[in-house]
Amino acid sequence: MTELAAIILAAGKGTRMKSDLHKVLHPIACRPMLMHLMASVDALIPTKKVVVVGSGKSQLETALAGSAELAVQEPQFGTGHAVQQARGSLEGFEGDVLILYGDVPFVPTAMMQAMVARLNAPDAPAVVVLAFEPENSSGYGRVIVEDGRIIKMVEQKDATEAEKAAKLCNSGLMAVKARDLFSLLDRVTDDNAQKEYYLTDIVNIASEDGRICVAIITEPYNVAGINSRAQLAEMEQAWQQRRRVQAMDDGATLIAPETVWFAWDTQLGRDVLIEPNVFFGPGVSISDNAKIRANSHIEGAIIASGCEVGPFARLRPGTVLEEKAKIGNFVETKKAHLGKGAKANHLTYLGDAIIGAGANIGAGTITCNYDGYFKYQTVIGEGAFIGSNSALIAPVKIGRDAIVAAGSAVSRDVADGELRMVRAEQLVKPGWADRFHDAMRKKKADKKALDQN
Ligand code: UD1
Ligand code: MG
Repeated sequence: MTELAAIILAAGKGTRMKSDLHKVLHPIACRPMLMHLMASVDALIPTKKVVVVGSGKSQLETALAGSAELAVQEPQFGTGHAVQQARGSLEGFEGDVLILYGDVPFVPTAMMQAMVARLNAPDAPAVVVLAFEPENSSGYGRVIVEDGRIIKMVEQKDATEAEKAAKLCNSGLMAVKARDLFSLLDRVTDDNAQKEYYLTDIVNIASEDGRICVAIITEPYNVAGINSRAQLAEMEQAWQQRRRVQAMDDGATLIAPETVWFAWDTQLGRDVLIEPNVFFGPGVSISDNAKIRANSHIEGAIIASGCEVGPFARLRPGTVLEEKAKIGNFVETKKAHLGKGAKANHLTYLGDAIIGAGANIGAGTITCNYDGYFKYQTVIGEGAFIGSNSALIAPVKIGRDAIVAAGSAVSRDVADGELRMVRAEQLVKPGWADRFHDAMRKKKADKKALDQN
């Protein structure tokens, strides 16, 4: 196995996005598109990764957090010029180089592997080009192939009518040996319609040298690029559509798949039921036989088997539901751990809370976890019963099997087995209402009689 380096081009201006955020950091399925690509590259265990960047360098630095080197291309004189900027980072590197685009995020690892394998085949091609046949080839460079080898790469703006008719297009992605790459790039000029240094010219130069260059063909989805918000949304749709099918293939039931939105890392067990209009943010894992009911928004939550969530539930990061716990409608949780079979069925906020197994949290319970400066924890024991419309003013502990009476505002710990009732003594006046009504009706009748006179 030869060593592998990846050069990821991301110095394009991305003007059509009209964004302050670098184009390659726009998320798909809650993950920056660049990080989708990086994950696929990482599966090949490359020795080097170099991202070529123009503006927005510090944004990329933050996102990559040291996981790749950055090379700056300023100004941008084309794809060939961009690859040249990675030369310093690859000083002394002798292996295979994969050239990728940061805005083409869904190249499967297997496709990258196929490119590298082809590069190392016995006929020793100088360049392997990843090509595809788009429905509309307008704008793409054409790949002219004869007898299994590329005889010419030509950009649309430089192409003759006959060349434009070629169906095979350049995805932009290539595999080249490091020593070939930089010696070929040295010979590339900007003598073309766009006055740019075309990476594609390395194929033409190698061919003139009598070297073989080849294309391998992939489906358009694998090399789809993103240049605008509309394309971002299209790609999101396409990704989601695949993920939904995958979820069903893996044994989940989606009643209305087109209304369920997954994050890149959503994990689902078998026989999970997902009702319509459910959105998953990152960090969600759901075990077997859980039920996610309609219109729920779930992120950063671990949901054990047999749990039921929703309809209309909001689970925020740090939520852990143990087996058969239940979160009902209009309940919000954040950093809340519910033990086995614990229930919060209606209209509740549980934040920074640990709730014991089998506890029952009544409608309208609020953990008051924030005083405007700090957050505090609420701990509720196993089997405790929290009456409706209670405010649990953290930090506070409610003991095992304790009962908090409805409408209580609890600010001091409740012992195991205790009943705590925090509300005003009731005033009881038998017959008072009857006497009140009689008196008021008489008063009103008297006034009416007076007005008529
Ligand atoms: C390029 C290819 C074309 C291919 C098409 C696929 C060349 C000469 N052309 O064309 O054959 O069909 O992609 O989408 O290679 N970039 C830089 N620095 C630059 C210019 C570009 O980093 O100076 C990066 C961009 O950020 C982007 C990628 O390279 O990720 C492609 O750039 P783009 O301008 O879209 O290339 P095209 O002209 O469309
Ligand atoms: Mg382009």
